[in-house]
Amino acid sequence: MAAAFLLALLPFFISGCDNASFTSYYEKGALATASPIATQIGEQVFAKGGNAFDVAVAVGFALAVVHPEAGNIGGGGFAVIRDASTKEIKALDFREKAPLASSEKMYLDSMGNPIENMSTVGADACGVPGTVAGLYELWKEHGSMKWSELISYAILLADSGFMVNSYQAESFNKYRDRLSVFDESSRLFYPNANIWQEGDTFVNRDLGWTLVQLEKDGLESFYAGEIADSIVATVKRYGGLISHEDLASYQIKWRKPVSFTFDSLQIYAMPPPSSGGLIMGQILKLVEAYDFSIYKPGSIEYIHLFCESARLAFADRSEYLGDPDFYNIPFDLLDKNYISERRQLINLNQTNSSLEILPGSIPIPESGQTTHYSVVDAEGNMVAVTYTLNSSYGSKLAVNGCGFLLNNEMDDFAIAPGVPNLYGLVGGEANKIEPAKRMLSSMSPTIILKGGEPLFILGSPGGSQIITAVTQVIVSLSRFNLPLEKALSQPRFHHQWLPDNILLEEKSFDINVKQGLLKLGHIIKEADMLSEIHAVYIDGAGLMSATADRRGPGSAGGQ
Ligand code: GLY
Repeated sequence: MAAAFLLALLPFFISGCDNASFTSYYEKGALATASPIATQIGEQVFAKGGNAFDVAVAVGFALAVVHPEAGNIGGGGFAVIRDASTKEIKALDFREKAPLASSEKMYLDSMGNPIENMSTVGADACGVPGTVAGLYELWKEHGSMKWSELISYAILLADSGFMVNSYQAESFNKYRDRLSVFDESSRLFYPNANIWQEGDTFVNRDLGWTLVQLEKDGLESFYAGEIADSIVATVKRYGGLISHEDLASYQIKWRKPVSFTFDSLQIYAMPPPSSGGLIMGQILKLVEAYDFSIYKPGSIEYIHLFCESARLAFADRSEYLGDPDFYNIPFDLLDKNYISERRQLINLNQTNSSLEILPGSIPIPESGQTTHYSVVDAEGNMVAVTYTLNSSYGSKLAVNGCGFLLNNEMDDFAIAPGVPNLYGLVGGEANKIEPAKRMLSSMSPTIILKGGEPLFILGSPGGSQIITAVTQVIVSLSRFNLPLEKALSQPRFHHQWLPDNILLEEKSFDINVKQGLLKLGHIIKEADMLSEIHAVYIDGAGLMSATADRRGPGSAGGQ
């Protein structure tokens, strides 16, 4: 009784007199996702005795139903996990792959110019999906509950339907024209002429059928069975390349996470084919050397330092990062001497054109919409999952009779040297299209320990903006000593080398800050909002809390 009373008071003690936020603490497990319904399903799995991996699998399938713009089984993603029993931290790569029939110049016309929308809309844009294989692997290696039970929550949601909230209704209405280009998607999302309203019910029996096949037959049904037949037939109808062979040969890959320290934090993040871990590492290592006592969150000086560091890191991204199974990253991008050398290029008093910044040279002689969720349990199992269809609703093409969308992830390749993708990112040789290669990503599921013990899990949607958002939260936690909710709610800014401008969240920055940045030579653009982070915090006593970013519709909970 006394313990329960103290537990109830704990949030007050921790957040002190700052009543701007209220954090709940949980004993069995905590999670934060992009959807209140998915979060509730996670809570139910914890209540049944499931571990963090069980929750991650059930939530992954639930998001495919209730958050169809990004939650998916037709896309791919990454997970960074900590297995509490071995204390091992590993990275799971279930990123989509280029179809075997793809080729370097497939999106260019005879003059070598990109063909409009070809890498972003319809069957041509789709990579071979990896999500089902990824979730299956998480369950097979680490789950404790039955596979069928974990999928059953999503089946119920798809078959009986769920009430759409205002966010989802608005999203369906916004994408009506683009999704209605394809009969398969139009039937699925707009079965009648009505405008979607908050409180309407969205039923997806086709997806219910698909999930039942996965429940019964596991991976086999998706990569070789009737679902595979439908994927291939739909893609073929619209002239795309995914074949039965592509599906049958799809494999996940366990990889060694990128690991580095920032102050006293031990950070574990996604290695290539995501650029997330290394670019985050470069930015943090570049800024680590500076005395932050003179900086404030959101100040001109801090934004300038951060953006100058981000520009250097993103320039390297364009040159040196791609699928490591096809391209050897030629040197250690986090090498201490290399980082010191790059830091010399930062001028704290002014910026220069990004065209004057080149990717670093190899040290000699040494050698979009996406969604993220974070889960932890009482044992200390940690799961950070970011998965995606790429842009909202991916390729906009739904698989006939199966109730799910295919991704447009092929656009994350460099379709030609220097041609920007949806996120304005450029690339070259390292990230060129090759059969069965994985396209470079920015997704950054991240696990943070301190003194070897779990501390934070975080990640975000937002293409290239994922990296700067996650990195800024880490700086806020460690350098500005902000509690998690405050760190998440800080106004965000972004620089990715090219295009050569700072993106500021609009209405969040004082006119003096904008003037100050202009004076330093920056070009400023504004965006509605930048990335929603869903994070978990584990305190010294092992109590767990979760926080969903207020920018989006997400929710946090636990047991
Ligand atoms: N599709 C966005 C990313 O992987 O970075």
